[in-house]
Amino acid sequence: MPDKYALIIGSGFTQFASGEADPLSDNRFGAPSAPIRRSEFHGHNILSIARHGEPHTISPHAINYRANLLALQEAGATAIIALNTVGVVSDIRASGEIAVPDQLLDYTWGRKHTIYDDGDAIDHIDFTHPFSSHLRRELLDAAKHADIDCYDGGVYAATQGPRLESAAEVDRLERDGADYVGMTAMPEAALARELGLSYVCLALIVNKAAGRGDTPIHDDVEASTVSARTLAESLLQQFFKGRIVS
Ligand code: HPA
Repeated sequence: MPDKYALIIGSGFTQFASGEADPLSDNRFGAPSAPIRRSEFHGHNILSIARHGEPHTISPHAINYRANLLALQEAGATAIIALNTVGVVSDIRASGEIAVPDQLLDYTWGRKHTIYDDGDAIDHIDFTHPFSSHLRRELLDAAKHADIDCYDGGVYAATQGPRLESAAEVDRLERDGADYVGMTAMPEAALARELGLSYVCLALIVNKAAGRGDTPIHDDVEASTVSARTLAESLLQQFFKGRIVS
């Protein structure tokens, strides 16, 4: 059976959250951030959810990641493309670009990070490769095919937020091997794996991380978001163009 794709839409990308909304209802993990929406992209039926709610009011640490992923799964999703804005820590890439990271570091805390509650039988998922290699390959192939500059790889560090990092924290992230810093790919990626969903992160680089570069972060974000968003949009168009309709 072909995959049924879903987008998890992050900050600043609410234009992707279009289409008919399912009624919003709680599942066994509680309330999702927003209704699941169904839209058509190049003849392909896709699902989407706005991670931070509609309107954007839910902070990264307060998102009910478990409910969002379960809602997508119950709506039929098998493969998740997560749009995550990031700052760039290393000199791997620049603001305004996009990347498909291949590794993760998790600095978040206090979030519900597993689908297993007390008393449940636990599965220790293999998280050696936290992102789906087949989805990574498909996204990168689509980028290559359309000549869209999309970096293959890099380490995503998930921080707690909602504040941005101090310069010293970013120095530590770099020493730890991080290339990008964002606030939402964890526990999302691990929960997706526990639920048996394929998950890939499409990172939209909207700023240089704290202490990297001379431009104030918010100015950098303002100047770079449109470019990253346009690249991501073109990549998704290309990705769905070549797909079998499900
Ligand atoms: N840090 C953490 N999360 C982010 C950043 C950042 O610099 N930019 C976009 N999301």
